[in-house]
Amino acid sequence: MAGTGKTEMAGGQMIPRHIAIIMDGNGRWAQKRGMPRTAGHGVGAENFRKIATYCKDLGMDYLTVYAFSTENWKRSRDEVGAIMGLLKKYLLESIEKMERDRIRLKIIGDTSVLDPELQALIQKTDAIAASLPGCFQANVCVNYGGRDEIARAAERFRLAHPGQPITQDGLNECMDMAGIPDPELIIRTGGEYRVSNFLLWEGAYSEFYFTDVLWPDFSEKEIDRAIESFRHRDRRFGGVKS
Ligand code: IPE
Ligand code: IPE
Ligand code: MG
Repeated sequence: MAGTGKTEMAGGQMIPRHIAIIMDGNGRWAQKRGMPRTAGHGVGAENFRKIATYCKDLGMDYLTVYAFSTENWKRSRDEVGAIMGLLKKYLLESIEKMERDRIRLKIIGDTSVLDPELQALIQKTDAIAASLPGCFQANVCVNYGGRDEIARAAERFRLAHPGQPITQDGLNECMDMAGIPDPELIIRTGGEYRVSNFLLWEGAYSEFYFTDVLWPDFSEKEIDRAIESFRHRDRRFGGVKS
């Protein structure tokens, strides 16, 4: 719910419960090396695994990453196909390893328009994730847009509560991210200073950390830097310092 700002002690240090990342810069990373943009997505996907494991080991509860936006369909068929191929590969691996790695995977966004094969894999991962309550959770946003999530939540609310007035709590329960605490910190890699339609509802009071580092180069040390910056933020949530 907007306004939640819990932090938790882990290893004696304040670690956000939930970090979200706009994983930007894969294409430029590849182009700088004379490689096709799709190669950057491959390295970026590997990096996601590494960073998710690190976040889990730090003691966080949730990591949410932006993998494919509702606007990313504008890209070439090749590029979209490569990203969907990587998602399929990741889902297949997760089905095998989720239990062992203790990382619950959740796909967030409008999955109804994805390839039926991908949708079937998502259902399988959901079933395995349901058997791992309490584990660190990685939310991967695919065909996700903040505006789309809010519009779909409003429609869900209307169908579930015909004739009832819409409230923030009511809408919150209908969001894709329902039940997950809002991210305390949103990181954007790749040097752009915008939200690009990410977590518009849940990020109402998130702290932002922007870095020029391109996603495939974003290391564990960069997570430490972002958390260190977060620790110095004065979160007032509209109030005043006492
Ligand atoms: C982010 O990297 C991944 C997706 C949007 C799918 P980009 O592909 O946007 O990389 P740049 O920003 O073009 O370098
Ligand atoms: C945001 O990056 C989406 C993802 C990281 C999945 P984009 O590269 O699509 O965003 P813009 O086009 O720079 O705003
Ligand atoms: Mg980009």
